[in-house]
Amino acid sequence: MEKEFWKPGNMLYPLPVVMVSCQEEGRRPNIITVAWTGTVCTNPPMVYISVRPERYSYGIIRSSGEFVINLTTKRLARATDFCGVRSGREIDKFEKMGLTPLESETVSAPGILESPVNIECKVAEVKELGSHHMFLAQVAGVRVDKSYMDGSGRFDLSRAEPLIYSHGEYYEAGERLGKFGYSIQKPKKERKKR
Ligand SMILES: Cc1cc2nc3c(=O)[nH]c(=O)nc-3n(C[C@H](O)[C@H](O)[C@H](O)COP(=O)(O)O)c2cc1C
Repeated sequence: MEKEFWKPGNMLYPLPVVMVSCQEEGRRPNIITVAWTGTVCTNPPMVYISVRPERYSYGIIRSSGEFVINLTTKRLARATDFCGVRSGREIDKFEKMGLTPLESETVSAPGILESPVNIECKVAEVKELGSHHMFLAQVAGVRVDKSYMDGSGRFDLSRAEPLIYSHGEYYEAGERLGKFGYSIQKPKKERKKR
């Protein structure tokens, strides 16, 4: 197997791509598309988003100390891209994309009703890393769309057809290959014998 060596760069893919909603008091809410995001701690539940200081949303998130991460789906692909190429300085992205602000439980910023999962976040720390500043945040509450619950009360995100971002392109999730721990699970027959 022959490999090339590249200079340092961002090649950690695929990633989730999310729509982050934010709002400054007395102003209309805004949405910024973010791919530099992730979970960093289970307990307390913590996440991050990295945002360039020149983005309109940066100042809103910095001054309000709050934002909502809205998971994206195949159906929301166009809106996700649009919110990543147009600025809220000039337009109302909620209105333009036909999205509905959803009142949050724990933060002032609204979520996006059409998203299957809204993660309400409170900024704990800002790390000024370089091109992007990382907002490390505590999850204050999560809203999930009941229509993705299966018969046994389990939330089935795959039914929402989550959007995936890889090296500049959007994809839909593929075939299910297994569940957590399947690699060490004994085949059913063997389990019965014990
Ligand atoms: C797929 C995708 C991912 C993006 N990820 C980020 C990101 O992680 N951080 C960031 O600052 N900008 C990111 N952007 C760019 C912003 O979403 C874009 O500049 C947006 O227009 C900023 O909106 P605003 O000016 O209303 O804040 C991304 C754009 C796209 C299309």
